[in-house]
Amino acid sequence: MTMTHRFTGRTALVTGAGSGIGRAVALAFAAEGANVVVAGRRREPLDETVALIEEAGGKALAVTADVTSAAGLGSLVTAAVDRFGSLDVAVNNAGVLEGAGQPVADVAEDAWRRMLDINVTGVLLALRAEVRQMRSQPRGGTIVNISSNLGAHGRRPGVTAYAATKAAVSALTRGAALDHIADGVRINSVSPGPVGAPMSLRPGETEAGRAERMRTEAPLGRVSTVEEVAAAVLYLASDDAASAVGTDLVVDGGATA
Ligand SMILES: NC(=O)c1ccc[n+]([C@@H]2O[C@H](COP(=O)([O-])OP(=O)(O)OC[C@H]3O[C@@H](n4cnc5c(N)ncnc54)[C@H](OP(=O)(O)O)[C@@H]3O)[C@@H](O)[C@H]2O)c1
Repeated sequence: MTMTHRFTGRTALVTGAGSGIGRAVALAFAAEGANVVVAGRRREPLDETVALIEEAGGKALAVTADVTSAAGLGSLVTAAVDRFGSLDVAVNNAGVLEGAGQPVADVAEDAWRRMLDINVTGVLLALRAEVRQMRSQPRGGTIVNISSNLGAHGRRPGVTAYAATKAAVSALTRGAALDHIADGVRINSVSPGPVGAPMSLRPGETEAGRAERMRTEAPLGRVSTVEEVAAAVLYLASDDAASAVGTDLVVDGGATA
């Protein structure tokens, strides 16, 4: 448990915060003093994240929102500001992986379009809504996008469609960072590798099977924990990273070193 409180009095928004990395990021911000707004499509997992934060003495608000909807994202940012007074940090974490294991010749068009819509359009529209709010505030804001080591860094067959969407997230991060640093909005990304969450399980694989595969496949010998990914996100969002602009921090146990 960290003893630092880098986000006291700040408001942090996390998309996809009802599970996995997003929930861990939301809990970590709350533990460091932030008021946290947790977003996703389903209400119940968001309420669970809020309950976990409140049990630990933190403050949080659940807002259902689909990142593919510009109107939904606008309402989400408004809800954060109405409740907590500002939007200081945003983490664009919502993302999906479909069709793992399929080569390009077998990619389903609807899966490709869903991934483009959520992973790419969702990040662009979220950035747009967040920057519009942050640049109107005297102290600006910081944004961290969750990309993947499979995008700009990895070379793995069978995940090409997903990898293309994540390469786009890394490009969006660099471009948006350059577009808006002069507005006082600092934007970076974290590119996790396999994390101890369902997305890194191969089709039909158990957690024990994944652990065994990681022992030989991963340089570090294991998956990253969601807390390790959250720590990287908090670093980039914090004043400790004040001169990190448009960087993509790979946290993948050496998989793409
Ligand atoms: N796990 C890994 O090994 C790994 C590795 C590298 C990168 N990543 C990236 O890390 C991020 C989080 O992944 P995870 O492993 O934590 O997956 P996860 O547990 O499936 O979490 C994804 C979250 O996003 C939400 N979401 C999905 N579509 C959404 C939409 N259209 N609008 C709003 N929220 C939406 C989901 O909630 P609802 O369904 O309720 O909306 C869910 O809570 C993703 O961007 C993923 O690509 C994961």
